[in-house]
Amino acid sequence: MKENRKEKQTGQPGKQPAERRGYVSLPPATMLNPAPVVLVSCAEKDRPENRNLVTVAWAGTVNSEPPMVSVSLRKERYSHDLVAGSGEFVVNLVDERLSRAADFCGVRSGRDLDKAREMGLQYRPAEGMETAPALEGAPVSLSCRVRQVIPLGSHDLFLGEVCAVQVRPDLLDERGSLHLERAKLIAYNHGLYQRLGDVTGFFGWSVARKDVYERRMAPYERKRTKK
Ligand SMILES: Cc1cc2nc3c(=O)[nH]c(=O)nc-3n(C[C@H](O)[C@H](O)[C@H](O)COP(=O)(O)O)c2cc1C
Repeated sequence: MKENRKEKQTGQPGKQPAERRGYVSLPPATMLNPAPVVLVSCAEKDRPENRNLVTVAWAGTVNSEPPMVSVSLRKERYSHDLVAGSGEFVVNLVDERLSRAADFCGVRSGRDLDKAREMGLQYRPAEGMETAPALEGAPVSLSCRVRQVIPLGSHDLFLGEVCAVQVRPDLLDERGSLHLERAKLIAYNHGLYQRLGDVTGFFGWSVARKDVYERRMAPYERKRTKK
């Protein structure tokens, strides 16, 4: 191996400051990007007509069997009280059409106004939920029952078991397979909303046989060359 210049100077491999290697240290922060951005719908247990939408980026998939997701909410959020009180929430994925609403629902509180009405959005009944509604028009809605609440510091982590999934029919093909790549989903990337780009592979593509790879990628390649 070639001795690098710094090693030659100090004789101490790996002792160079990060800056010298082309990296810059930032203070510890929530830098895991991109994050999902979702609209969580919820309602008050004893007054289910009192519904709300809150934008959440601190959301994640946390278990497969049973299927579970998490959302982290600050205690002071109006929706924190609704989710804690009802034990239910619905995670609605966000597409380009919902992108503006997602921002609005993340900067205004349901304590002060009806965010859905302001944004011209409608609720619909969520499968498997007693209280929480789903958001009409969302590509996918996950109905979740709270299984655990873990106080972490600034946020409480709500672990929800997914008890139903509803998808917009235009995202299913004639055989009933889901094509989420057609949904124009939005991600949250270090303070910016960004649409997802081209399909670059599929699960296991790096080890797939050439013919399998070509067959599976064909629809996306065609789409790409059409542009
Ligand atoms: C892109 C985006 C992501 C957000 N993610 C979260 C989050 O993960 N957890 C949280 O508590 N607040 C989050 N917020 C802030 C809340 O959505 C915001 O404070 C909202 O007004 C709370 O509404 P509520 O009082 O009706 O619950 C986010 C805001 C934006 C714009």
